Amino acid sequence: MLDVDDVHTFHGESHVLHGISLSVADGEVLTILGRNGMGKTTLIRSIIGLTPPRQGTVRLKGQDVAGWPPYRLVERGVALVPQGRRVFPSLSVRENLEVARAGNGRWTLERVYALFPRLRERAANRANKLSGGEQQMLAIGRALMSNPALLLMDEPTEGLAPLLVREVARVIGELKREGLSILLVEQNLPMALGVADRVHILSRGQIVYSGAPAALAADEDVKSRLLGVA
Ligand SMILES: Nc1ncnc2c1ncn2[C@@H]1O[C@H](COP(=O)(O)OP(=O)(O)OP(=O)(O)O)[C@@H](O)[C@H]1O
Ligand SMILES: [Mg+2]
Repeated sequence: MLDVDDVHTFHGESHVLHGISLSVADGEVLTILGRNGMGKTTLIRSIIGLTPPRQGTVRLKGQDVAGWPPYRLVERGVALVPQGRRVFPSLSVRENLEVARAGNGRWTLERVYALFPRLRERAANRANKLSGGEQQMLAIGRALMSNPALLLMDEPTEGLAPLLVREVARVIGELKREGLSILLVEQNLPMALGVADRVHILSRGQIVYSGAPAALAADEDVKSRLLGVA
């Protein structure tokens, strides 16, 4: 689905990503872990074209899309659940979903409400009246409305209570069962290990660890050195 090869990305003169290579297979959940400021969001922005790489390739279903504008990536089946949710605050829940609808795929208002019954109850409410957890559900629902094949999720559990973290994990599991490919950036280690097929750890713009969730779970040295987990 996605192949990233030797990507270097800059913010102005600041060299943030130093040769990132990774791939996400069809139907796979790949999780990127890493502490604050290590380049996780920059990686997501590089893939979807918000901060295009200065060097390297991003291939989507075999086609090099590096440097394409974000809307063309969305047309090709990539959707973003951005860090901090970024729903339209003055639009209602239903309007947030309706404006994001694109493509001829399976996702409709009804299907998003079936996945998130809470959003149906809140359909007429303005998004800025929602709780953090409800806004996160809306951000995920909005991304699904564009009928993606690849979902990029940037810290979807940030700031959520444990019950809602489990809810996000449940939804990721359901989307995976439907065949979606997911690139998930997380800082919640148990959650990340629970949903991932494979894990990479990003440190200072480089992938410094790759492994299966069970291997990472058992590796106390890596967890303390690279993730600051006691
Ligand atoms: N727009 C920007 N302009 C300049 N520097 C930036 C910009 N965005 C990010 N950076 C810098 O790039 C580096 C990586 O930031 P990035 O946001 O990708 O990290 P992150 O891993 O997503 O962090 P967090 O976990 O806090 O979200 C940091 O040093 C950050 O200060
Ligand atoms: Mg980030």
